[in-house]
Amino acid sequence: MLVKKGQKIKSSEITPKKLYMNRRKFISSSAAVAGLGLLKPESFFAFQEGQKTKLEIAKKGEYTVDEKLTSYEQATGYTNYYEFSLRKRETIELAKDFKTRPWEVSIKGEVKEPLKFAIDEIIHMFPLEERVYRWRCVEAWGMIIPWIGFPLAEFIKKCAPTSDAKFIEFTTIYDRKQMPGLKSDVLPWPYVEGLRMDEAMHPLTILSVGMYGEVLPNQNGAPLRLVVPWKYGFKGAKSIVKIRFLKKMPRTAWNRQKPEEYGFYANVNPNVDHPRWTQKTERRIGEEGRRPTLMFNGYTDEVGSLYSGMDLKKNY
Ligand code: MTE
Repeated sequence: MLVKKGQKIKSSEITPKKLYMNRRKFISSSAAVAGLGLLKPESFFAFQEGQKTKLEIAKKGEYTVDEKLTSYEQATGYTNYYEFSLRKRETIELAKDFKTRPWEVSIKGEVKEPLKFAIDEIIHMFPLEERVYRWRCVEAWGMIIPWIGFPLAEFIKKCAPTSDAKFIEFTTIYDRKQMPGLKSDVLPWPYVEGLRMDEAMHPLTILSVGMYGEVLPNQNGAPLRLVVPWKYGFKGAKSIVKIRFLKKMPRTAWNRQKPEEYGFYANVNPNVDHPRWTQKTERRIGEEGRRPTLMFNGYTDEVGSLYSGMDLKKNY
């Protein structure tokens, strides 16, 4: 979000050496190029700081787009995670020892009863799907990412919200010991995002626990993050620790910080420019030149009806 109009990404920001070396080790030892589908999904392995972690994918999910994947190095090396750093290139190093176990997600608000789930309970609750989605940052760049996760709707059913629940709020971890970026006042911490219930229940919306056949790298929001592919990436809250069901629209972090720039809806929309740059076009990471931005990031058939009758210039 802090990227200036026309700013270029330096190649050093894209492929940190350590990750690159790890990745080479992974590729040569397993001969698996996850994104190219050379191996069956069940045989994917993840390397995290030298450790091997298997992540089993039960099925190729619905809604997968047939477009060239962004490279693993770019998707995991060019990240926004401000609790660690405002500099994309620093985040990977600062997040490398981030502790994702033990980890609990608490469920509160308009629910039959408050609940707590351990992360490993959540991961094993549903068959994991791989969903290749378009991913669009409000900074006007995009990627194609093979996420691994499950529909948020399924998880919501386990939470048993009451009929008063009209919105859902995601709060992410606030840990000053582990996250040096929390010293900055770039956002009112903790990072909070939200959705309307019908958006949250939409089958395109997933909770993600992995990408590229592997568990989520810390800098991409381990152990659990939100992925809403028709919205700008800032909706995709990383490292979620609390989910609340609410009667009223929640105040979200970016919206509180700069309401005129970051709306609650945050739908990808080429007709509503960011006050400081155009949204008509975007740069796909790994490509030269720019592409036209697609309404709802290309998911109009799936989600357009959620907004019928709404003025999307006002509700940006
Ligand atoms: N979640 C938390 N907790 N903290 C953050 O700084 N950044 C957001 C979102 N989720 C962010 C976050 C922004 S601005 C974007 S664009 C996406 O994560 C980036 O996701 P990616 O780094 O996996 O591409």
